[in-house]
Amino acid sequence: MGFFQAIVSFVIFSCLSLPHAIANGNSFDLRKQELKCNMYQGKWVHDNSYPLYNSSACPFIRKEFDCLKYGRPDHLYLKYRWQPSNCRLPRFNGQSFLKRFKGKKIMFIGDSLSLNIWQSLICMLHAAVPNSNMIRQELNNNSISSVEFQDYKVTVMLFHSLYLVDVDEERIGRVLNLKSMKNGNLWKNVDVLVFNTWLWWYRRGPKQQWDYMKVEEKIVRDADRMTAFRTALTTWAKWVDSDVDTNKTRVIFQGISPSHYNGLEWNEPGVKNCLKEMEPFSGSVYPVGLPEAAYVVKEVISGIRKPVHLLDITALSQLRKDAHPSFYNGFKAMDCTHWCVAGLTDTWNELLYAALLS
Ligand SMILES: *[C@@H]1O[C@H](CO)[C@@H](O)[C@H](O)[C@H]1NC(C)=O
Ligand SMILES: *[C@@H]1O[C@H](CO)[C@@H](O)[C@H](O)[C@H]1NC(C)=O
Ligand SMILES: *[C@@H]1O[C@H](CO)[C@@H](O)[C@H](O)[C@H]1NC(C)=O
Repeated sequence: MGFFQAIVSFVIFSCLSLPHAIANGNSFDLRKQELKCNMYQGKWVHDNSYPLYNSSACPFIRKEFDCLKYGRPDHLYLKYRWQPSNCRLPRFNGQSFLKRFKGKKIMFIGDSLSLNIWQSLICMLHAAVPNSNMIRQELNNNSISSVEFQDYKVTVMLFHSLYLVDVDEERIGRVLNLKSMKNGNLWKNVDVLVFNTWLWWYRRGPKQQWDYMKVEEKIVRDADRMTAFRTALTTWAKWVDSDVDTNKTRVIFQGISPSHYNGLEWNEPGVKNCLKEMEPFSGSVYPVGLPEAAYVVKEVISGIRKPVHLLDITALSQLRKDAHPSFYNGFKAMDCTHWCVAGLTDTWNELLYAALLS
């Protein structure tokens, strides 16, 4: 806590010295000071210039996320901008993104929340260059979906992986191997890697994608799920330190995405989903605090020696109980886990863009 407060007061101090830097016309100092700002601390403000694109004109939105197409009547959720307390996020510029990443590959690796942010980034880039050539491909036996902006030689990929670590088909059944991450060899030469895993760690019954877990060389039926999550993340963290050349590859971890099925969390006891939520939670402090998994993520990342950026979207997304599809998807199934596209995941990409610029 002391460390955290130290950062906060440091940021406030830089902010106070801002007019001095402007007076001296010292834009370099100014830029440095902006980077010291914690982008993830702030509030949601209404902004009529949002959303960043017209979702009906984006050819790639899957039926899980296309809320307007499936009849969502309220549009206010599209009109919010994230305003950090001590600086401003750079406005997303799709053309300059494509120019900056010319010749590069960007890969999102993880579960359906990776799919969610990947779709949003493609729509944001497509909106900037709607008439440029795009090639869509499924690769590696459908574990990779890829969209190439051919005129810019930028490829934005999605690697489907629920746990990051391996699930091996063995004679006894599917074994979740917490200490092995064979796909790392496919990932490590990509220019920008954005990892995420969490959603599937507590799933049981038919939704559980493994039959046994391998822990410390022992095959077990089950184990404490949070401990297993931590072990798997640590396997990933050790791989970053041993295998990734961070001079060539930027490594990002996309933080825990919150869901909204329990109104107690936002002071509406008895509410069981996000169907009627049309506005963000007001205020910048969500009543229940961060989920335990978010602390596990922070701890494991703080143990990595190489530079890894945490795309720390948990707290700011907790405030967005209004930004889920609820019933407005192609399945008419209640979903307060994923996010409408356009919508919140565009902000995640604005934050990703800001992190990649620094
Ligand atoms: C959004 O795109 C659709 C399809 O291209 C178009 O019909 C519609 O007029 C656009 N809406 C706005 C507000 O630009
Ligand atoms: C491709 O995936 C399918 C379904 O998961 C699997 O049955 C098949 O063995 C895979 N093929 C290869 C070459 O890995
Ligand atoms: C990365 O760059 C730093 C600073 O230039 C250098 O000291 C280090 O050896 C480089 N690492 C690799 C793996 O090339």
